[in-house]
Amino acid sequence: MSSFEKTYLQYQGIPLPRAIYSDDFKFVEEFKFRDDDVLAVTYPKSGTVWMQYILPLVLNDGDMRAVQTTTNWRRAPWLEVKRTAPIVDQLTPPRVLVTHFPYNLMPPSLHTSKTKVIYVMRDPKDVLVSSFYYHQMANFLEDPGTFDEFMKKFLEGRVQYGKWTNHVKGWRHTELGDRIMYITYEEMVQDLPASVRRISDFLCCNVSDDVIHNIAEQSSFMSMKSKDMSNVSHAPKEYLDSTKSTFLRKGIVGDWKNHFSSEQETHFTSVIDKELEEGGPTSMDGR
Ligand code: A3P
Repeated sequence: MSSFEKTYLQYQGIPLPRAIYSDDFKFVEEFKFRDDDVLAVTYPKSGTVWMQYILPLVLNDGDMRAVQTTTNWRRAPWLEVKRTAPIVDQLTPPRVLVTHFPYNLMPPSLHTSKTKVIYVMRDPKDVLVSSFYYHQMANFLEDPGTFDEFMKKFLEGRVQYGKWTNHVKGWRHTELGDRIMYITYEEMVQDLPASVRRISDFLCCNVSDDVIHNIAEQSSFMSMKSKDMSNVSHAPKEYLDSTKSTFLRKGIVGDWKNHFSSEQETHFTSVIDKELEEGGPTSMDGR
């Protein structure tokens, strides 16, 4: 068995870490979305934990109790992880769920419910860099090797959840109409209060400007990094070794410039752009 096969099982062509997934996905297919559920969708390293923090605050008028007392995976669990399924059943509505799954693996109930979906997209160059460091600390993933080797794996989709381009393309072309909102990591970094306002309006939450500003302040990078319940330091050490990197690592736009050579940038961009074009126009401005 290769190291890739040891690390990942394949579900519908998507590599998923064996340490997290059992090969039973019937519970996902049969999952019953409710009309008031909110689903945040991300390719890994695009801002998942950030949304797990912001959404419960927006939906509860800025009430801090949930984010102060529960870990991210308890307040906004993964749709597709069987071992956290019991947590989903215990959530107080409106429930917040997150998923890294591609659009085509969504259960039928997503289409029959009125669940609202927020797709967060991040510059894939920064996703790659963030993921490179994450692979160094995540003991359940393959060692990333050199940055160049990891870039090759990323572009080939030989990483968890497969190709970034397939994820984005699938979620850009849905039948969800106005039930899906697109936002970029970059937009959130640039103007967090405006982003929180966009999210709040989309979810039809009547949140005052004061509360919006407080949520933005609480969910800034430095604020989240300083708090045990939001900085993912509760993850068991056998999964995430924080002596090698930290989950909330830099939280900036453009860290790729510190890692890519100009040849790597040209190559990476041409592969990504070509694959995005193959699926029709994919606006990167997040709207
Ligand atoms: P970096 O490694 O570039 O710092 P995910 O939760 O999808 O795995 O994404 C993790 C990335 O989101 C990390 O990126 C992390 O620092 C960043 N992130 C998390 N919370 C953030 C915040 N409040 N502000 C900015 N970036 C944040």
